[in-house]
Amino acid sequence: MAVYKVTVATGDMLEAGTNNSISITLVGSYGESLPPQGICPSPQKPFPPLQERSLSVHCGQDLGPIVLIRLHKWRLFLEDAWFCKDVRVTAPNGTLYRFPCYQWLEGVTTVEVREGSGRTHPILKEHRRRELATRQEAYRWKNYAQGWPRCLNVDSIFELDSNIQFSRIRANNFTGFLIFQGASHFLSGFLLRRTSWNSLDEMRTIFSRTQVPEYVAKHWQDDDFFGFQFLNGNNPIVIHRCTTLPLKFPVTPEMVAGSLGGGTDLGKELQEGRIFIVDYKVLEDIPTDTIYGRQQYIAAPLCLLHQGTDGLLRPIAIQLSQTPGPCSPIFLPSDDEWDWLLAKTWVRNADFYSHQLLTHLLRTHLFGEVFAVATLRHLPTCHPLFKLLMPHFHFTLHINTLARSVLINPGGLIDKGSGVTYEGLLLVVQRGLEQVTYTSLCLPDDIRHRGMSHVPNYHYRDDGMSLWEAIESFVTGIVTFYYGGDAAVSGDTELQAWVMDIFTNGFLGRTSSGVPSSLQTVAELIKFLTMVMFTCSAQHAAVNNGQYDLGAFVPNAPSSMRHPPPCEKGRAFLQHFLDTIPEVATTANILVALILLSSQLKDRRLLGQYPEEWFTEAEPRRLIRAFQGQLEEIRDRIEERNHLAELRYNYLNPLETENSISI
Ligand SMILES: [Fe+2]
Repeated sequence: MAVYKVTVATGDMLEAGTNNSISITLVGSYGESLPPQGICPSPQKPFPPLQERSLSVHCGQDLGPIVLIRLHKWRLFLEDAWFCKDVRVTAPNGTLYRFPCYQWLEGVTTVEVREGSGRTHPILKEHRRRELATRQEAYRWKNYAQGWPRCLNVDSIFELDSNIQFSRIRANNFTGFLIFQGASHFLSGFLLRRTSWNSLDEMRTIFSRTQVPEYVAKHWQDDDFFGFQFLNGNNPIVIHRCTTLPLKFPVTPEMVAGSLGGGTDLGKELQEGRIFIVDYKVLEDIPTDTIYGRQQYIAAPLCLLHQGTDGLLRPIAIQLSQTPGPCSPIFLPSDDEWDWLLAKTWVRNADFYSHQLLTHLLRTHLFGEVFAVATLRHLPTCHPLFKLLMPHFHFTLHINTLARSVLINPGGLIDKGSGVTYEGLLLVVQRGLEQVTYTSLCLPDDIRHRGMSHVPNYHYRDDGMSLWEAIESFVTGIVTFYYGGDAAVSGDTELQAWVMDIFTNGFLGRTSSGVPSSLQTVAELIKFLTMVMFTCSAQHAAVNNGQYDLGAFVPNAPSSMRHPPPCEKGRAFLQHFLDTIPEVATTANILVALILLSSQLKDRRLLGQYPEEWFTEAEPRRLIRAFQGQLEEIRDRIEERNHLAELRYNYLNPLETENSISI
């Protein structure tokens, strides 16, 4: 007779417990414990959340090393889903086996859970094959639109299984927040006013008087702040150093001489690396929409910036189209105040689209979903990279499914509240994906490629690099622990299928992107995993968390423009400006979304927090603690810098950076 001591733990979330019947079978190398032993044998003895239950399993013989457990759930009357946290089994010889589960059991079902250390055994090979076959049936790709990354094959959040849905507490928090914000804007009358704002000052009345929006309302007209936002705003990845002016942007030395200061000229500044450019060509000829029956307009501007002797970036020339000529003048800081302000506002409007559709939606949310779906399809639960990556996909499939239902769908918020039609939105993302490179997804390479290594006050770069290096160091520890060398990487067929799936369905098999379709070495694997984790955590935080801060004062990030770009100078004035930027109702619509998307919902998990203990060995757990220690040091450095700053850059503070794309 062999007696095994079994402890089963229920998760801590609301409704994790069950009153359905639960039993367990132990599977060892020499045999199984039969029949299944009851953990929660009857509705009279429910299993509440956050509790453990212990039992002894008596077997006629020693089962050998325990490699697998089976959890059986059935019901007599009402269904009551159960979230199992983990199971621990102590063998008669004192050996402890841990089985991290972290999943919902729904309906009448049997779930097999492998021992956490990932030992190999012939029984497990079949288990692994069955698990992946089940997952590939449950998580399928679909084409959302031509030329887009593929996404999960569901049409609404109600089709998502419990393991990838928002928790109940988060779902309630999200809905409550949306209703409250929508109602308050409705009651204040903003959502019903289809007229222009009466004045610039009136626009301050729509947002709460918090520090950053107030700062923006005060400084939005300053050239310094305009330049600052290309480094530390919501879209800090579009600016690059300019060494040769493009022919389509014929700025002459005379035009900018006054902006450059004495003792230098445009040629010298270009040569010495102090000229920068932003090009919104991706917006050229994008179909435009009507809002409340009125035609909207989109420009594809070019903006030239100069780094002054004080280190600050300031715009020195703006052209609002990709085609120079008499109908597309080059605007300069020396122009009339309203001409220059309107030109800068057109750039900010182009930046709104570039940020929302490409930097935010495509390059974090959609790629994050690709990584998540490929992981579910190709990496079994026992795979160390599944354990490493899954926490970084927490709630991503839910928020993206929601976005496809209410935000980017025909008639959704972007369609209604911005100047692009639904077709235009599809086209921008399609063009964006055609231009994505692996270099641009890997921060150190991206900074070098854009020539931005030495620009001062580039906090996105500095904080981002600190986080990249911390993630890379953690990933290096995990990969070297589990992979003995390059041959182990190239020979891991599950890993290779995973990378190929990402390449094929995320980047549509475009080799010119430089995105790998296979990984041959430990170094290649470390870089790829760092990119995935950075994209899903830090990069999303950098481009998501400041949306309300920087967008609450609408002239700083207008979602739409109601007059065409000016063809000549000298025609802009205050009323024309107010009649160009979004009317009150559109402002309110967009603001409700920005508040929600920048909010900190309940249940959020910060970078480096791994409440699910997928790894059971000592070394990965030590690596997690070391990673958390590094993040604390980064936090201290950022807070020390912010303490002295007039405008804090806090979007990459680990205290503000979530583990995953969840909002
Ligand atoms: Fe987001």
